[in-house]
Amino acid sequence: MELITLYYLCFICFIYVLRGKSDLPCLKRSCKLSKDKTTAKCSGLEYIPKIPSSVVKLILEKNSLFHISMDTFQNVSDNNLTSLAFIDNSIKVLTSDAFHNMKYLKYLEISHEKKLNISYLKMSFKSLNKQVMDTVNFINNGWTMLPMDLFSDFRNYTLEKIMFNDNTFLTFNGSLMSEFSEIHQLSIERNELVFLNASGLHSVIKLILSANNMFEIPNFCADEAGQSLVPKLSRLDMTDNAIRKLRPSSFKCLHNLKKLTLDKNRLMILENRIFPVLQT
Ligand SMILES: *[C@@H]1O[C@H](CO)[C@@H](O)[C@H](O)[C@H]1NC(C)=O
Ligand SMILES: *[C@@H]1O[C@H](CO)[C@@H](O)[C@H](O)[C@H]1NC(C)=O
Ligand SMILES: *[C@@H]1O[C@H](CO)[C@@H](O)[C@H](O)[C@H]1NC(C)=O
Ligand SMILES: *[C@@H]1O[C@H](CO)[C@@H](O)[C@H](O)[C@H]1NC(C)=O
Ligand SMILES: *[C@@H]1O[C@H](CO)[C@@H](O)[C@H](O)[C@H]1NC(C)=O
Ligand SMILES: *[C@@H]1O[C@H](CO)[C@@H](O)[C@H](O)[C@H]1NC(C)=O
Repeated sequence: MELITLYYLCFICFIYVLRGKSDLPCLKRSCKLSKDKTTAKCSGLEYIPKIPSSVVKLILEKNSLFHISMDTFQNVSDNNLTSLAFIDNSIKVLTSDAFHNMKYLKYLEISHEKKLNISYLKMSFKSLNKQVMDTVNFINNGWTMLPMDLFSDFRNYTLEKIMFNDNTFLTFNGSLMSEFSEIHQLSIERNELVFLNASGLHSVIKLILSANNMFEIPNFCADEAGQSLVPKLSRLDMTDNAIRKLRPSSFKCLHNLKKLTLDKNRLMILENRIFPVLQT
């Protein structure tokens, strides 16, 4: 009886291979491929499976991957992944060699990983290829604070985007970002921010702070004389906060600002002569 079942299963697999439907037909249930076969999304596994050689973007969602090290990626070591997303896999540990073989990785996402100790995440940054890294996306990990040395391995590197959306920060200490040579966009959306210390954000070009609880424009001045903490900042988005009042001094040190978005605030008072300051 069992032999017949086995025979039947092998036959099915064989037919699939013959018809060339997929490189790895038997993985179909746990991994889904995009039409162009460059993206795979795998779920319900306890390991990272082999995926077709055309895949360069891997999304791991709702697997049981508690401990991630360099060895965890053995099955995908020939894929030259450029994009890797972990979403809700109950990760607890990331080792410092985890990304050692990911020489081409540009995008790293860690989302809904509430069991991950950030100290391990910080250690895993050691093995990222910072030359090619472009975007880090940390969504809804239940974070309330970040270790001050989180990005110390990124000293003098540039990132296109850093995102911390849907966490629960009350304050954000910009010093965390001071090591970067340039950050095109820093997003801290849908947190509970009431205070942002802009000291350290000197390399940020776009700052997105929408859907928080900020009741004033953060202080962007380094000193009384009007030296800016954010000389590169060209776009500031504070949509959906609790800002009530704008003062001329609110914009005093935003020398390079081109676009400001303040929709969905509680603006009642606009003091005179606010915007001439902005234009100079
Ligand atoms: C590689 O995939 C196989 C199944 O194809 C699995 O049994 C094995 O555990 C995987 N290796 C690693 C290191 O996850
Ligand atoms: C991955 O990169 C290596 C070295 O750059 C190359 O030899 C190999 O063919 C690439 N693999 C794939 C699947 O593109
Ligand atoms: C996180 O890991 C660090 C270093 O291994 C350890 O000192 C710290 O206690 C851990 N934190 C939690 C909440 O487990
Ligand atoms: C980073 O850049 C600064 C200024 O350009 C330089 O003084 C410093 O040595 C660099 N640090 C590293 C670790 O490369
Ligand atoms: C922000 O970080 C800097 C540098 O680590 C530290 O000196 C400062 O006390 C921090 N500020 C707050 C409000 O945590
Ligand atoms: C902001 O952080 C800097 C250093 O990181 C610190 O010197 C300064 O006092 C902080 N400002 C406020 C208002 O907390």
